Amino acid sequence: MARKKIIAGNWKMYKTIAEAKAFAETFKKKYQPSDVRVAICAPYLQLPVLVEAFRGTGIGVGAQNVHYEAEGAFTGEISIPMLEEIGVDYCIVGHSERRQYFNESDDTVNRKVKALLKTSIIPIVCVGEDLQQKEAGYEKQLVSEQVKNALHDIPADKAELIVIAYEPIWAIGTGRTATPIQANMMCELIRDTLTEMYGDETADRMVIQYGGSVKPENASEIMNMEEIDGALVGGASLEPLKFHEIVNF
Ligand code: PGA
Repeated sequence: MARKKIIAGNWKMYKTIAEAKAFAETFKKKYQPSDVRVAICAPYLQLPVLVEAFRGTGIGVGAQNVHYEAEGAFTGEISIPMLEEIGVDYCIVGHSERRQYFNESDDTVNRKVKALLKTSIIPIVCVGEDLQQKEAGYEKQLVSEQVKNALHDIPADKAELIVIAYEPIWAIGTGRTATPIQANMMCELIRDTLTEMYGDETADRMVIQYGGSVKPENASEIMNMEEIDGALVGGASLEPLKFHEIVNF
């Protein structure tokens, strides 16, 4: 099992273009390529600036959402060809904030993942339960269903390119992190689901990240868990030095 870890920052709706440039300058001076793949997922307007700033450094750039249609009358949306033209490497799909505030559903997640897989942009598919679902003991079934629905009708040779991010909603932006054991157990459950869908070989190759209050102080413990292949980092990715520490867990 030689999975490469991927640590991606998710800036959400933070940073102007000037702030993104300043981040990139500081971060790339510190950054040393390693076995861990690193990326920043930024608001759309900041993507060209980051692609340019990170060119030749090995640092990847990702979007935080996309529409599944190539073009059309969808006011306010951004298409995959538009992202391809800029040269982004990743696209987050189905983040819990999009599911919660923007009507993202398992069906739209599945459409977006399928459309992205026709290109070289790697989908980072987010799954995870909220506090109520966890307290009701429903989290395993829910997360497993989210994975199955997101990857519905996607063949194994395509599925293995997908990154899954397990992000318990109760741990996002709350400072309340899942314990490494809890996080590892849920990532293992996701891998079991992938094994059921695609068999051992494919499931073994797939990258499963953890996300939810990952910080310099807890990164190494989480990253060293057997089933956890990286992180999706919100708040702590906004500061270049903090993100650098996480990347160098
Ligand atoms: P957080 O966000 O690290 O601020 O908890 C993680 C995420 O939403 O991807």
